Amino acid sequence: MTDEDNVIGFVVGGAYSKGTLVQLQNRVHEEIEVGYCLVAESGRGNYLMIVNDIIADSPNTAITVNMARKPTFTKHLLSDILLTSKLNCIPIACASGDRVDEALTVPDYLSKCKLLTEDAAEAFYGKIDWQKRYPLGTVRPSEYNVPLDVSVMVQNSFGIFGKSGTGKSVLGNLLSAYILLYSKNSVLAGEDIPTTQLIFDMHSEYGLKLKTPSQTILAPGVAQCFPEEFKVYCVDHELVGEIEKEFKRGTLAKEFKIKKEKIEVEDIIALSELLKISGVGALNLQSLKDKLDEIAGNWFEAIINFNDYTNQDLKNMGFDTQTITSLRALSRRLSIFKNLPQFSEADDTCQELLKELENGKNIVVSFGKYGDLEALYMFIVNYISRRLREAYVGKSIGEGVRNRIIIFVEEAHKFLNPGVRESSPLGLIARELRKRGIVLGIIDQTPSQIDENVFGMIWNFFVGATSIERDVDVVTSSLKLTQLFKPLVTSLRRQEFLVYGSALKYPAVVKIVDYNSILKKVREEYERKFKANVNNDNVKRFLEED
Ligand SMILES: Nc1ncnc2c1ncn2[C@@H]1O[C@H](COP(=O)(O)OP(=O)(O)OP(=O)(O)O)[C@@H](O)[C@H]1O
Ligand SMILES: [Mg+2]
Repeated sequence: MTDEDNVIGFVVGGAYSKGTLVQLQNRVHEEIEVGYCLVAESGRGNYLMIVNDIIADSPNTAITVNMARKPTFTKHLLSDILLTSKLNCIPIACASGDRVDEALTVPDYLSKCKLLTEDAAEAFYGKIDWQKRYPLGTVRPSEYNVPLDVSVMVQNSFGIFGKSGTGKSVLGNLLSAYILLYSKNSVLAGEDIPTTQLIFDMHSEYGLKLKTPSQTILAPGVAQCFPEEFKVYCVDHELVGEIEKEFKRGTLAKEFKIKKEKIEVEDIIALSELLKISGVGALNLQSLKDKLDEIAGNWFEAIINFNDYTNQDLKNMGFDTQTITSLRALSRRLSIFKNLPQFSEADDTCQELLKELENGKNIVVSFGKYGDLEALYMFIVNYISRRLREAYVGKSIGEGVRNRIIIFVEEAHKFLNPGVRESSPLGLIARELRKRGIVLGIIDQTPSQIDENVFGMIWNFFVGATSIERDVDVVTSSLKLTQLFKPLVTSLRRQEFLVYGSALKYPAVVKIVDYNSILKKVREEYERKFKANVNNDNVKRFLEED
């Protein structure tokens, strides 16, 4: 194909705020899709543009064609002259010589437009080096893989959004694998402190397996691909057996336990919204804690079993009628926690988990069959995050903090909605601890439920398809030319994300790399550099089974 064959049209007008208009030439508009990248060659430089609308704008001519008489022949005669089609394109960047800048104008009239080629794409987005820049996926219509600069991504919180089934959890696992490899590489090169990950794995997709929407197995989760680097704490004790049986990972999977004595009133108050605990109920709990401690050894045990005591018993212990009624109501709300095996008299694995995290182990907390028990998921995420925050407030990188920590959290709006953001441990972490090296990997289906202040802390956005208008509004709100990007978000397919932020040079619509094949490559890189001569048969076997 000659260079001229690649020309698909020319610029005929437009406005910076509305986009560039490109008239198609020698092409039927059906060949071009929303999300395609073009390059417009003007005298000033090459403009990278993303198509956000396809316009067939000759209806008056089309209706004059007599469809009874050789319409194909007539169409051929009229094409490009009287039957024209146009593309509306978002100006993204402009390359002139070695310089590439964000586009702040539109290309000149009659600039030739070509479909993006791999070479042209590289001039804008740079090269993959498997050190800092890792392959995120292709930009249509080229096969070029855009590099994601993981060294930049890990510095700040990032967000993965999109409706169910768009590929958020697969992408979460992929980013986690890249962060792991980046951390190993950067420490080896002496370029960065280690980055460790704490992953709250609601549906056991990081600790065990990723599944397709029809519940067949898609691939091993990141922890299974790198058993040397991850430890899985299982909220569901049956998961320990499952992980050990299938992957022979021995002590790397462990049951997660909370000692009842260690539960603070704040841990329950954090669930007020979900459990509809009133302000009075919460206040009662605070003031009566010591008294409740006396009844059953610890206040939590006393409150979840409060209905075992008769009114008379309680009165004898000094509770008045009003307090008894209020505590009974609270006890009913907390009854979901009664008899849960995670609450123990003796063991508490949280301290151990935090110690390991601090020492550089990546941690996955997998919920197994308890993933759908919202109150327990929220309780445990809050419980661990509160203690992590307490351990890190007051420390900063360079003075005591040896690792950067990235906390992945699915259904993040539960912890970051306007009602709780100011008091929830994750909300506080997002606000206070970035400078101390703790950031969030926020994963959510309904970003409009997240407090708007949180979006100011997110530096990289991975936006999957979503059709709810207020969700589209919030996930595009950090872009320039917001309105122009919205049609892109609604038209994304599964596995496609609009990606923008500090870790990608320019916004792009990316078809994310195939998870199975890329994880094999990540594993190979890892083995080549960090596990020379180690033959991990379990991992190999699993990676070979698709
Ligand atoms: N990068 C990818 N490689 C291979 N398959 C993918 C990829 N991304 C998405 N898929 C396919 O899309 C399906 C859905 O992905 P995933 O489970 O990550 O969606 P989700 O957005 O997390 O959905 P939910 O919100 O319901 O949890 C996967 O099971 C897989 O079949
Ligand atoms: Mg998911």
